[in-house]
Order: sequence, then structure tokens, then C-alpha cells
Amino acid sequence: MKNISLKYLLALPLAALLCAAAADDTMPALLRTEGGRTVRNARMWERQRRPEILRMLSTEVYGVAPDTPVEAAYETLEEDASALGGKATRRQVRITFRAAGREHRADMLLYIPNSAEGPVPVIFGLNFKGNHGTTTDPAVIMPAAPKSSPRLAPRGDNARRWPYAEAVARGYAVATICKDDFFPDRRDGYAESVLPMLYEGSTIPDSVRMKAVGAWAWGISRAIDCMETMPEIDTRRIMVIGHSRLGKTSLWAAATDPRIAIAVSNDSGSTGASLARGNRGESVEKINTTFPYWFTDRYKLYNGRETQMPFDQHMLLALVAPRPLYVASASDDAWADPLNEMHAAQLCGEVYRLYGLQPLTWRQQRLPAPGATFNGGDVAYHLRQGGHDILLYDWERFMDFADRYFGK
Ligand code: GCU
Repeated sequence: MKNISLKYLLALPLAALLCAAAADDTMPALLRTEGGRTVRNARMWERQRRPEILRMLSTEVYGVAPDTPVEAAYETLEEDASALGGKATRRQVRITFRAAGREHRADMLLYIPNSAEGPVPVIFGLNFKGNHGTTTDPAVIMPAAPKSSPRLAPRGDNARRWPYAEAVARGYAVATICKDDFFPDRRDGYAESVLPMLYEGSTIPDSVRMKAVGAWAWGISRAIDCMETMPEIDTRRIMVIGHSRLGKTSLWAAATDPRIAIAVSNDSGSTGASLARGNRGESVEKINTTFPYWFTDRYKLYNGRETQMPFDQHMLLALVAPRPLYVASASDDAWADPLNEMHAAQLCGEVYRLYGLQPLTWRQQRLPAPGATFNGGDVAYHLRQGGHDILLYDWERFMDFADRYFGK
């Protein structure tokens, strides 16, 4: 009895506090231009406000991409039509980039359903631990360990995050590349990353240059270029997914590459889907201190100054509109701040409304019960019970959502 009343008493101020977070009056308006005009329709959004926000998030957070012409050559290293018990074709492709007299490589792994009659939709996601970490399939090539970080993850280490068989059974191809192929995820990763090649001779100031997350998003676009050469893949039906730091990346990739038809952010947290204002998890200062090599140098100017930022993460989400967007959280993932992820997903709905689309259907300012899924609108959200991870549970919901758009 004592416990119940204590809980009740505590819940009241907490609820008031949570509402206050979403209603922060320093929150920059999505639909007001820098010149102070109200954005009234999709045309004005596309012509004026969207480019303003894209420019701001490029210079302040994710980095300005150079327009260095890059050549890419694709070499199939391995292909086998009897993968996944005969249900899929496994293909491993080496992409070699050449620009400014330099060369850079990335290796893609794909599983493509065999049963389809025409080109299939594809789910693309970067992975954390190497392609060989995404599956126990012994035919997946183990890369040579780089000299600078000789520890390779064991085969299949991350396989729980990559339900290839289930996706293929539902008619989706799945493709992946290790993020480290574009920028090794370490403070001193720059020299081995694709960026020295991309910025060779560039006059873009250092303070606004891309770092790891920008390089990873660039890599997603290059993976799409490669898949565009594959007749079995329908590149008008690409869903890009990403977990955590790679969820931040999938959102930025979708903001910058219109070929991405659906964007999924899973537990992306700070500088991903989660609003910075009022964040109860990772702050801007914390992320910039622990991972100074992820975002632009300019982003560090906002350490401890969230309420003065001329942007917040609902703007990143709004850049995905009018394409379908899925934001997912996990109930025990306090570091990513599920409530602020959900609030951002709600706030970006203003832009979806300009297109006559359906914003997030959960309108309340508090989190739904763990296990709740809202995927009936064009902005979807779910709160998985449990911790920071991406599991079959999440994938199933993302695929249910994609089925609605990809005509399956
Ligand atoms: C750290 C980091 C987060 C990030 C996460 C991950 O926890 O602080 O910002 O999302 O790693 O990528 O798993």
C-alpha cells in the first residue's frame, strides 16, 4: 500500500516534467523560414525550408560533402545460389573507389531471395563488426585484420541482429557493409577512412567537414549506386535501417539521398532521433567528448548549449518526409532517451501533414507501454521491451511497415 501511493505521488511531477520537455519554447520551429515566414505548403517546404535545414545540419552537425568525382568499380568476389538452404543467392562484391590518385575499398554482402519473379525490394544497413559478424554462414569472407586494429570479431558475433532468413522468406533482399570500411570507428580512424580521398584538394573549411557519421552515410549512398547495377534489386524500394550510431547514420543518409524510400532509426539516441533539448540520456557535450570523430568540429560549439541550438533532431526526421519514417526505441535504453525519440517523431509530423500524410498516431506526450507499436501512419514508432539492441522483433515491425509501401 505504501509503495503504491509513493509511486502515484512521484508520477505526477514526473508527468508534468515530461510534457514540459516536448513543449520547450526554445525549440526551433520546423515551419518558419530563417526570414521569419510561415511555411504553408509542401512546395514552400521543398523550395525554402528544407534546403535551409539541410544546409544547417550539414554545416553544424554531419558535415558538408565534397563534390569530388569518385569512380567506383564492382567486382563479384563470390556468388552462390544455394545459400540459406537454397532460398537465397549470396553475393559478395568488392567496391573499389578511385579519386584524386587514391584508392579505397568496401565489401558488400547480399542475400537475394531466389523465389521472386521480378526485382525485389532491399533492406540495406551498415553493420558494426564486419560482414562475417552478421552471420554464421561459413562462406562469408573473413577480411584480413587491419594492422592498426588487429582484433577481428568472431564469425557470427552479431548474427542475432541480422535475421537474413526471415527477411528473405518475406521477399526482401538484405545487403550490408561494415561501417569501418568507410571510416574505422576510432579516434584515429581518419587516415584509413575514405575522407582523405574525398577531401583531397577541397576548399571546404575543416570545421564543417564530415567525419565518421558523414563518411558512413556517404558509404550508404555508394552502396545504393552499386545495387543499382544489379537487375534483381529494385532500387526504387530501398529501406535503410540502422541501429544506434548507425541509426543516426541511416537518418542522415535518408536526409541526403532521395533514393532511400523508407528510413529506419533503431535506438539512435543523441544526434539521431532523440531531441537534444531536455535529453535525459546522452548530452551533446558527452557525445562530442566520447566520440569527437563522429560529427563536425562546429558541433562542439553546442556543448552544454542545447537550448541555444538553431536546430534539433525533429528537423533531421523532417528531412525524410514525405517518405515513410520509422523510429524505434527500447524501454530500458535510457541513454538513447526513448521519450525524446518519440517526441521528435511526433514533432516531425507537421511536415508530413503538409503532404496530406499521416503523422505518428500516438499523440500523447508520455511513452506508450513497452510492447506498443504504432505503424499505421507514415511516421511509425515502437517501444520494444528491453535494452539497447536491434532484434528480430524490431525487424518484423520494420518489414510490416515496409510491406504497406512496397506492395507486398
Ligand atoms: C554509445 C554512444 C551512443 C551510440 C551507441 C551505439 O553508447 O554514446 O551515442 O548510439 O554507443 O552506437 O551503440
